[in-house]
Amino acid sequence: MKILAISGSTRAASTNTALLHTLAKIAPAGVTVTVYHQLASLPIFSADQDAAPPPAVHTFKHMVADADGIVFASPEYVRSIPGGLKNAIDWLVSGDAVIAKPMAILHGSHRGDDMLDALRVVLSTVSSAFSATPFVRFALIGKSPEHVAELLAAPENAVQLRAFLRSFVALANPNT
Ligand SMILES: Cc1cc2nc3c(=O)[nH]c(=O)nc-3n(C[C@H](O)[C@H](O)[C@H](O)COP(=O)(O)O)c2cc1C
Repeated sequence: MKILAISGSTRAASTNTALLHTLAKIAPAGVTVTVYHQLASLPIFSADQDAAPPPAVHTFKHMVADADGIVFASPEYVRSIPGGLKNAIDWLVSGDAVIAKPMAILHGSHRGDDMLDALRVVLSTVSSAFSATPFVRFALIGKSPEHVAELLAAPENAVQLRAFLRSFVALANPNT
């Protein structure tokens, strides 16, 4: 099973990207988690380019089409979804790859509920298989990627992250 893990942050030291890398590390045999944190490489969506998208968009769309499910982790910017992440989702709307794609959200902050609400609305609009659960959040704001990895290795956090992944795999692939 292939999971695409999309980070809404373009920061090199992003806590949300680090969270997704940890998800990739704990994936059990048979489950591959690929982290996508190249939102900055996607040009601004243009309907005029939708039929023949630029190479970076083409690659992104292919990764989405190829995945059995998508997990998002994003910061809140100005009480909403970061523009880069919304832009990436806009590029997906015209294709059929996302229509029934299983999707869920992980969150690297104890804040950001306006972004979470907005992202839930957007994802449930683009996919009939978006699910608000499983969902898990960790208070990671301001931590370095190394510190994020350490915190998530703590038993009480590791257990929650593993449970999230187990539930998402079951959601995306009911035959497992
Ligand atoms: C432009 C900008 C706007 C932000 N707006 C908010 C906000 O509205 N609410 C909030 O809780 N945090 C806000 N933050 C803080 C980020 O959400 C927070 O630092 C987050 O952990 C960054 O995630 P990252 O480490 O994955 O990049 C903002 C940060 C930036 C750079």
